Amino acid sequence: MQLDYVDLFLIHWLGHDAYKESWLALEDLYAAGKIKAIGVSNFQVHHLKELMSYAKVIPVLNQIELHPKLAQEEIYEFSTQHAIKIQAWSPLMQGQLLTHPVIVELAKKYDKSPAQIILRWDLQRDILLVVKSVHVERMRSNADIFDFHLDSEDMNKLNQLDEGLRSGPDPDTFDF
Ligand SMILES: NC(=O)c1ccc[n+]([C@@H]2O[C@H](COP(=O)([O-])OP(=O)(O)OC[C@H]3O[C@@H](n4cnc5c(N)ncnc54)[C@H](OP(=O)(O)O)[C@@H]3O)[C@@H](O)[C@H]2O)c1
Repeated sequence: MQLDYVDLFLIHWLGHDAYKESWLALEDLYAAGKIKAIGVSNFQVHHLKELMSYAKVIPVLNQIELHPKLAQEEIYEFSTQHAIKIQAWSPLMQGQLLTHPVIVELAKKYDKSPAQIILRWDLQRDILLVVKSVHVERMRSNADIFDFHLDSEDMNKLNQLDEGLRSGPDPDTFDF
């Protein structure tokens, strides 16, 4: 990579429980200063507990599918207790939530786009984001979420959309 160090390195998927060896290797690279922060992706609470039973370094973050239809409350609670940041992938549910009536209604109320409403909901829950667009204007607008605040009633409206619905694979059953 021709770099002195990497800022952040994640284990992307679990790989049939073969992640212990990977994590210990990442810890060595972290201790050597080659990686400044190490984390995981697609880990459920039971995977985090198992990892933490032998880890010397707690993952700095867990990148998981998370959006209003999949609020991931169990991982959210556990991560909050253990100071593990959550980073949401597919935060717009691959665009599928942008026409949801509750989100469209809130977009009108706050004079923001449906995407900005969803991303602001994440921000107010202290969730980091990986949101994708190939359009520069959408990238700009998706990053422009710091000048408004969703009130608690509207946060609750979004919280109530949770159905445990995934757009991507389930980490407990995903077969490589
Ligand atoms: N760790 C993992 O296992 C994992 C798994 C899946 C994905 N990811 C990461 O998560 C990132 C995002 O996930 P994703 O691409 O699946 O879903 P997403 O970010 O929820 O949604 C992307 C879709 O929303 C559209 N979009 C974005 N902003 C918009 C806006 N302001 N208005 C209207 N449409 C908008 C995009 O279209 P346009 O591009 O046409 O604007 C695209 O079709 C990926 O790029 C990937 O890096 C990680």
